[in-house]
Amino acid sequence: MEELKKIAAHEAVKEIKDGMIVGLGTGSTAKYAIIKLGEMVKEGIEIVGIATSLRSEKLAKEVGIKVADINEYEEIDITIDGADQVDTKKNLIKGGGGALLREKIVASCSKKEIIVVDESKLVENFSFPLPVEVVKFGWRHTADKLSKLNFEPKLRENFVTDNGNIILDCSYDRLSPNFSEMEKEINAIAGVVENGLFIGLADEIIVGTKEGVKRIL
Ligand code: 5RP
Repeated sequence: MEELKKIAAHEAVKEIKDGMIVGLGTGSTAKYAIIKLGEMVKEGIEIVGIATSLRSEKLAKEVGIKVADINEYEEIDITIDGADQVDTKKNLIKGGGGALLREKIVASCSKKEIIVVDESKLVENFSFPLPVEVVKFGWRHTADKLSKLNFEPKLRENFVTDNGNIILDCSYDRLSPNFSEMEKEINAIAGVVENGLFIGLADEIIVGTKEGVKRIL
């Protein structure tokens, strides 16, 4: 599986050109893109990275990528990020690594969002528990309200997000098919900061398969 993650990530970095502002995703697949970008920097390409998490920022700096504050730029040219599940319409579930809030902010400021996954993540119907970032204060009440939307929220143990919040991993039998509505409904609950449904944010999915890379455009 590592090889499939790597070929997808390496395919994505081919779209990065000199002078670009590049969003740096989080997770074990996005990591391959960051490492490859570091190699490209050493070979002379000049880019500025905008990290979606403290750990991606650390890795980027280690491999020699200049990292800047997102507020310094009006737009990000291309972001390369991973996902936990992807459907054929380029809807995503993200947040398995707990970085969904910064990932969504970066994605929403990106001219192009490329998602890199191995083939096991491509599904017809989502099943990955939906990560929801919530503030710690009153989280049991927030969880009760999520249960009323037919989720079964479970506190992610020993985990605090880069923003000082917690994550509720929300299982479900079947997600309501109106994802945009669901995304809004979840975010309307007091205490919810953001959820891992990424609807209409991905421009291109690059899938690493045993037969090579495939694209969903
Ligand atoms: C982090 C994420 C990651 O992109 C997602 O969890 C996929 O990670 P990996 O590539 O390690 O499977 O959303 O918040």
